[in-house]
Amino acid sequence: MRMYDIIDKKKRGNELTKEEINFVIHGYVAEEIPDYQIAALLMAIYFQGMTEEELLYLTNSMAVSGDLVDLSDINGIKVDKHSTGGVGDKTTLVVAPLVAACGGKVAKMSGRGLGFTGGTVDKLESIPGFQTAIAEEEFFHTVNEIGLSVIGQSANIAPADKKLYALRDVTATVDSIPLIAASIMSKKLAAGSDKIVLDVTVGSGAFMKTKEDAVALAEKMVAIGEGAGKETIALLTNMDVPLGISVGNNVEIVEAVNTLKGKGPKDFQEICEIFAIHMLVLGGIGDFAACKQKVMQAIADGTALEKFAQMVRWQGGDNTYIYHPEKLEKAKYKTDLLAGKSGYIYHMDTELCGRAAVLLGAGRETKDSGIDSTAGICFYKKTGAQVKKGELLATLYSSSREKLKEALAYLEKGYVFDDKEPPVWNSVIAKVTKDGVEDLY
Ligand code: URA
Repeated sequence: MRMYDIIDKKKRGNELTKEEINFVIHGYVAEEIPDYQIAALLMAIYFQGMTEEELLYLTNSMAVSGDLVDLSDINGIKVDKHSTGGVGDKTTLVVAPLVAACGGKVAKMSGRGLGFTGGTVDKLESIPGFQTAIAEEEFFHTVNEIGLSVIGQSANIAPADKKLYALRDVTATVDSIPLIAASIMSKKLAAGSDKIVLDVTVGSGAFMKTKEDAVALAEKMVAIGEGAGKETIALLTNMDVPLGISVGNNVEIVEAVNTLKGKGPKDFQEICEIFAIHMLVLGGIGDFAACKQKVMQAIADGTALEKFAQMVRWQGGDNTYIYHPEKLEKAKYKTDLLAGKSGYIYHMDTELCGRAAVLLGAGRETKDSGIDSTAGICFYKKTGAQVKKGELLATLYSSSREKLKEALAYLEKGYVFDDKEPPVWNSVIAKVTKDGVEDLY
């Protein structure tokens, strides 16, 4: 088999075989195929797409390129959740304890922030003492004993994806629907859960900018999950505005705690409850109505918050910060963004809002840079709000006065004002299953 012929075949829009795909992935991980040939193939895939079969072969080949986690030591049905990423996306912090408080099992491996999106691991590590690098045995033990554990993804999960993602990042091939689907699902298949609930974000702060693209991505990921024998559903969620009010690390912990108490921002509260209900239904805990009742009860009686505090303690963290999140360190400096004119906020460039948070120090400029856990932004007015000139739109926080100034000037560019009211999307837009697409809520 020759890599040249495989590139040429895909370039002409023909279907690759399982053997050809395995040859590419094995050869790349073994460093027998150079970056430039893989880059050419990625660009051919970008333009020609992949059939469902090709995508399954590619995803499986990437999944088995490293460790396959065996979760069979954990009792019960393990349901994983994954978001395609966004700005202010702290859903796991709320959903994992909520599901565990209702009797579900959550063994979750999460990532760090990269680019304009934040990462659950960074957010959890802003709780003093919290450990995310935990040995597999302890991880399993924790889930068996308390129903949940959230840890960092181990280094050898889908190494083919790590190499391919780094190459896509520098060859303008990240925004390919089949390549995103294979990238995410290879890690999900390797992580070993029984069932999967996907959060496919859509809008100006997501990889998928339009509903059509988000549905196409969701359909591909659901087909891959089902093809691998794991029941998989996807919910499309609104990332055309930052999720909730807070974007950053300490500020997102505070918002997660409020949401576990039922006092979260409306959009975020709704998304967390809906994801928890769907995870419980897939986990065999009950039907939709029964699971909804359990979720509302766990929030109302405080057991969801207790579960979060319990996980923090089991993972070495100081859980007094969960009962008193106001103890989390505050930023040294803050500044307000005020409305430059009166009218409706017609559009927010949410990716730009995420980049502004990174500029403040809340995210990583490069993969090895550190995080300022006190940095972030609180958005008090979002798309659809009617504001008066001079009204408070957002507050920015940072340890650096210079970064604050730079980010304020940058963030201002992220708002479009108009005299007319814009259409505003629902928090949860649609549900995609193997049976089709259902517009929701
Ligand atoms: N997240 C991933 O893990 N991979 C992609 O390609 C895009 C988002």
